[in-house]
Amino acid sequence: MNEMFYPSEEVLKNANVKDYESIYKRSIEDREGFWAEEAEKLNWYKKWDKVLDESNKPFYKWFVGAKTNIISNAIDRHLETANRNKMALIWEGEPGDVKTYSYHALNREVSKFANVLLSMGVQKGEIVTIYMPQIPELVIAMLACAKIGAVHSVVYGGFSYEALAERIADANSRILLTADGGYRRGKATALKCIANEAMRRSPTIDVCITVKRTGDECFMENDRDFYWHNLMGMPIAGANADTVELDAEDPLFILYTSGTTGKPKGLIHTHGGYQVYTSTTFNYVFDIKPEDRWWCAADPGWITGHSYIVYGPLINGATIMLYEGAPNHPYPNRWWSMIEKYGINILYTSPTAIRGLMRFGASWVDKHDISTLRLLGSVGEPINPEAWRWYYEVVGKGKCPIMDTWWQTETGGFMITPIPTMPLKPGSATKPFFGNEIAIVDEKGEEVKANEEGTLIVKSPWPGMARTILNDPDRFIEKYWKQFEKQGWYLAGDSARKDDDGYFWIIGRIDDVLKVSGYRLGSAEIESALVSHPAVTEAAAVGLPDKLRGNSIHAFVILKQGYSSDSQLAEELKDYVAKEIGPIAKPAEIIFSDGLPKTRSGKIMRRVLKARALGQDEGDLSTLED
Ligand code: PRX
Repeated sequence: MNEMFYPSEEVLKNANVKDYESIYKRSIEDREGFWAEEAEKLNWYKKWDKVLDESNKPFYKWFVGAKTNIISNAIDRHLETANRNKMALIWEGEPGDVKTYSYHALNREVSKFANVLLSMGVQKGEIVTIYMPQIPELVIAMLACAKIGAVHSVVYGGFSYEALAERIADANSRILLTADGGYRRGKATALKCIANEAMRRSPTIDVCITVKRTGDECFMENDRDFYWHNLMGMPIAGANADTVELDAEDPLFILYTSGTTGKPKGLIHTHGGYQVYTSTTFNYVFDIKPEDRWWCAADPGWITGHSYIVYGPLINGATIMLYEGAPNHPYPNRWWSMIEKYGINILYTSPTAIRGLMRFGASWVDKHDISTLRLLGSVGEPINPEAWRWYYEVVGKGKCPIMDTWWQTETGGFMITPIPTMPLKPGSATKPFFGNEIAIVDEKGEEVKANEEGTLIVKSPWPGMARTILNDPDRFIEKYWKQFEKQGWYLAGDSARKDDDGYFWIIGRIDDVLKVSGYRLGSAEIESALVSHPAVTEAAAVGLPDKLRGNSIHAFVILKQGYSSDSQLAEELKDYVAKEIGPIAKPAEIIFSDGLPKTRSGKIMRRVLKARALGQDEGDLSTLED
């Protein structure tokens, strides 16, 4: 825990900000002043009357009274500068096809699609659901929604029709944007067919616009279904569109994430605070320079993609890389060959991806000149020190600091993270980002001693925080703010330790949320998928440590009478969950059981199942019913 890696002379010389401690101190002493100063770096149609409004906690408001639109910063302002002809987006499809967009070209595509949306009657504040593979149109669609004040709800392209239908229904979306498919490991996915199934189950959709990517045909319904390229070729898709002036607190997007109950939560992020938070964190942590090529190898369908593929980098005028497919297709050198080909300077990815590529060995990396890399990043789950060291030595050649960023869908941007000049400890996300006071406490809210495990809380509001849960403000309070209501602290749902040097070490979730390959899933979602199978009467899903994926799903299942617990049924149930939720949710193991440990009030005690599966002490069983 005390192994330290120090930044090189070069990193120290070139970093945008050098002295973490003094900026941090200032940001805490005058939080609002710090954020106002950062906000001043952006365009506003009208400046704020008040930086922070705390009158209705925990529903904080930032930059109150300001008029803005994130697009005026992510695109419009670049058109007035030399960035106009700079590459905004480089995209490579899995089969090897390439598309590039300058800021000028991106603006043209976004404006055209904004006009298409307007022609479909899309209104300010309306939620548009997007279900696409990792293609440029996904980014264009998000930006076009933002431009006209519509709210995007991106549903990860790996989710099933059930998950998509549920999210469409909760958002009451009238418009769905999708694609015929995308490529993954050499195969085309049938996205439009899945979308059709979802629309059958959730009939609020009037208009579905499909991008042709694979050319595979799927049923198109008259008057509902349109092809993207047809619409973009029509006079309705004019190349000029106004960026709509919005309130800073107007919603920018909804993003669904898993919680402790079966129903996913639609977290709401806004234009004003979110643009300040994502652009500031991106600039300080990834130390972006005008000539940099930035690659965040996440899917735009998750928060990492929203904040650090799309908004944060574009606001900073960076060149972003987007890749459609699998890291090891057709060979395990795919990423390294792309870094060489495009001269990528910064790579940001997940520990699971690093561990996955590490398996193939260093020789695949060494085939390529990846000396352009100067900074690396990690996100989504704790990075184990072996993977950290491999990433540092083999990928970064010992010269690229690793920014291990801890944050969440709820936080909008990095919360605990190094900046490049900070000494690093493998496996630690280091220290709070500017403006954030973070602590590790016990159940009563007392700070635990150094190196002791406790609950991670955030003591003060930050501009990028989610404002509420769509249609469910009570759940927002209950989940994040209730436990430490008196103190007004945000409960992150993670356990962690802080060491003697003030470095934070994230341990993992303390609720029934599982991180599998960095993806966030709820135990309850997996369980409700299982019990919807005719053979299953009850189920409990837990995550057990997995060398590659961080965690893998183990599901305990009680069968209905008349079904026999054989391996064929176990395989059928695994496939069934993958079909209901998506391949990421496929259980590694199904364990048939006659009963489940429950409390007297009927709650399944997943920690007991977990301990038993791991052969560990089952802890206090006094509340167990049977
Ligand atoms: O448990 C933490 C883990 O991911 C959770 C948030 O998941 P999600 O909302 O999907 O956002 C992931 C991308 C920001 C957290 O509660 N987590 C995220 N980053 C890290 C992490 N755990 C350890 N180290 C990290 N760097």
